[in-house]
Amino acid sequence: MRIGVLTGGGDSPGLNAVLRAIARRGERTFGDEIFGFLDGWSGLIDDRSILLDIERCRGILPRGGTIIGTSRVQPFATPDGVHRVQATMQRHRIDALVCIGGEGTLSATSEMFDIGFPVVGVPKTIDNDIGGTEMTFGFETAVQIATDAIDRLHTTAESHHRVMVVEVMGRHAGHIATWAGLAGGATVTLVPEEPFVIEDVCKRILRRHGGGRFASIVVVAEGAEPVPGTIGVPERTVDEFGHVRLGGIGNVIAQEIEARTGIETRLTILGHVQRGGTPTAFDRVISSWFGTAAVDAVHDGAFGQMVAWENGRVVRVPIADAVRNLKRVSPELLDVARTFFG
Ligand code: F6P
Repeated sequence: MRIGVLTGGGDSPGLNAVLRAIARRGERTFGDEIFGFLDGWSGLIDDRSILLDIERCRGILPRGGTIIGTSRVQPFATPDGVHRVQATMQRHRIDALVCIGGEGTLSATSEMFDIGFPVVGVPKTIDNDIGGTEMTFGFETAVQIATDAIDRLHTTAESHHRVMVVEVMGRHAGHIATWAGLAGGATVTLVPEEPFVIEDVCKRILRRHGGGRFASIVVVAEGAEPVPGTIGVPERTVDEFGHVRLGGIGNVIAQEIEARTGIETRLTILGHVQRGGTPTAFDRVISSWFGTAAVDAVHDGAFGQMVAWENGRVVRVPIADAVRNLKRVSPELLDVARTFFG
């Protein structure tokens, strides 16, 4: 078969491992030819691709990013986008398309399936917020990077008797914040799942400092929000793809903590550091498994399906189900995290 592949949305450590696995499984097991379309859907819209054979994929397993590039371009939001994708696929006689992406890319993939495109999805995001899968690749790497940063912040916070606010990624769900906060021993972790009251955050910090502990770490997901009417939030802008630009809540929280507690407070925004660099061993393994499973799904004609992680193995779920509801942090895990607050 002739299989097209694209990587869309924000990059995530493990993308190259998925591409390598697709090339391996496709070429070795089925004698497929794999075409990597460049920069997400825009490579299909503008007809730009490279041949992804085993040779081309050598050495990329531990490399961060994606060798075929990515973008947030969507066929339905591009003039004549769907027809141009169709024309490119016909021109190259592409039998099936594997779309590796997060919520935006997979929603478009699901719509493409609805209008007859032979597509298979692979869930990708460091945010780990895609429904239908217990885990997305890149998440564990991001959590490890955030935890390492928190470990480092502890010692400088203790030396200066400061509060350190650490803003991590997670626009709709606080998986990275919750996991890194737990692993890093945060004093408080704030997530989009539970609006926070700044007064309560400050009380916990003051109690801790009053009890002889002279440093605190507050982990904040970029999508965390205060209970309405308690404090102001930074204005949100929207990028050209309708994606809300976040970042800034950490700054508000740091200023409020310093003003209300009188304790010197500093802010660290981890930002894209969480998405760069080499994937963890676990992320390399699930990426490789997802890639091979996606090729198997193509050969089974399981179009409209997404490969997913469930109970320690890879299964298939309808893409439409996976993108219907975002996966948020479970109340049970939030409860565990709360046990260690203050
Ligand atoms: O969706 C993944 C993600 O890393 C989010 O956590 C973050 O809000 C967003 O992408 C950042 O996007 P960009 O790379 O476009 O700034």
